[in-house]
Amino acid sequence: MKILLIGANGQLGTDLLKVFRAAGDTVAPFTHVQLDVRSEERIANALAEARPDVVVSTAAFHRVEECETRQAHAFQVNGIGAMNLARLCKRAGATLVHYSTDYVFGGYKRSTPYTEEDLPAPISVYGASKVLGEHLIAAYTDSYFVIRTCGLYGIAGSSGKGGNFVETMLKKAAAGEAIRVVDDQILTPTYTADLAVVTRNLILTGKFGLYHVTSEGQCSWYEFTRYVFECAGIKAKLTPVKTSEFYSDVKRPAYSVLSKAKLRKAGLLMASWKDAIPRYLAERAQKMSVETAGLTGSR
Ligand SMILES: NC(=O)c1ccc[n+]([C@@H]2O[C@H](COP(=O)([O-])OP(=O)(O)OC[C@H]3O[C@@H](n4cnc5c(N)ncnc54)[C@H](OP(=O)(O)O)[C@@H]3O)[C@@H](O)[C@H]2O)c1
Repeated sequence: MKILLIGANGQLGTDLLKVFRAAGDTVAPFTHVQLDVRSEERIANALAEARPDVVVSTAAFHRVEECETRQAHAFQVNGIGAMNLARLCKRAGATLVHYSTDYVFGGYKRSTPYTEEDLPAPISVYGASKVLGEHLIAAYTDSYFVIRTCGLYGIAGSSGKGGNFVETMLKKAAAGEAIRVVDDQILTPTYTADLAVVTRNLILTGKFGLYHVTSEGQCSWYEFTRYVFECAGIKAKLTPVKTSEFYSDVKRPAYSVLSKAKLRKAGLLMASWKDAIPRYLAERAQKMSVETAGLTGSR
C-alpha cells in the first residue's frame, strides 16, 4: 500500500509508521509542522506529491481541558480538519483512516459497552468536536474508516498531552509520591502498538465504516494503575478515590467501554488490556536500555 501518514511523530503515529514499514508499505510521513489538517492547500499538495492509496491521520487537538476554553480551535482541528481530509481524499481517490474517541459518549450507559449504532452524546467540547469530525467525514466520502478508540498509551508518549498515563504513574511511584487515582471511571486502556497492527488489518478488509477498536476488557483508572505497578514489580502508595474528589472544568464519562462486536465480525481481534501491559513494559525497558547504551557509547 502507498500511505500518507499525518501526525506521524505522535504516540499512535509512531507505532503506525513502524507497522506500515515492517509490512513493506510505502509511507510518506508528515508531522504537524509539515502538514496542518486545517490547511486544504497543504493537504492537496501532499496528496499530489505522495499519490497514496490510503491517508491515515492521527491529527487531533485532544487536550481535553484546553478544548473547553479553546472551543474554536478544537472544532477547527477535530471537525473542519477532518472534513478537509475527507473532501480531498475523495477527490484524489484515496481511502481515509481517521481516529475518534470514546468521549463521543457521555455516559448514558453504565455497564454495557457502546456499539457503533449507539447515538453519540458528548459532554465535553472535545467529545463534541470529534463527533463533528465523524459526521463530516461520512458526509464527504464513502471510502473511510473512522476508528473510535480509548485510553491510548504507547512508547512514544502522546505529543498532544505530553507523555502518557502509564509514564505519569511510573514517574510518581519512582518519586515516592502518594498516588490517588479514580476508581469510578470505567474504560479500556489501549496499547497503540496493538491498535496500529489492527488498523492495518482493518484497512486490508476493505469493509469501510465506523469501528470501535480498543483492547478487550474493562477497568477503572485505579485498577489499571494497580496492575501496571503489579506487572512492573513496584510497591507504590496508591489509593482509590472518587471523581468528585478532583475539581475539573471537564465532565468525563463514568463508563465509556466500547463494544468490539463489529471488529470481531470483520475477523479481527485485539488483545486484553491486561495482556498489553507487560508487553508495553518490555518495549519500554528495551527502549531505555538502547538509550543507555547510546549514552555510554558516546562517552
Ligand atoms: N490519547 C488518547 O488517550 C486517545 C483516546 C481516544 C482517542 N484518541 C485519538 O487518537 C488519535 C491519536 O492520539 P495520540 O494519543 O497518538 O495523540 P498525539 O500523540 O498527540 O498525536 C497526534 C498527532 O497529531 C498532530 N497534530 C495535532 N494537531 C494537528 C493539526 N492541526 N494538523 C496536523 N497534525 C496535528 C500532533 O502533532 P503535535 O503534537 O506536534 O501538535 C501529533 O503528532 C487522536 O485522533 C485522538 O483524538 C486518543
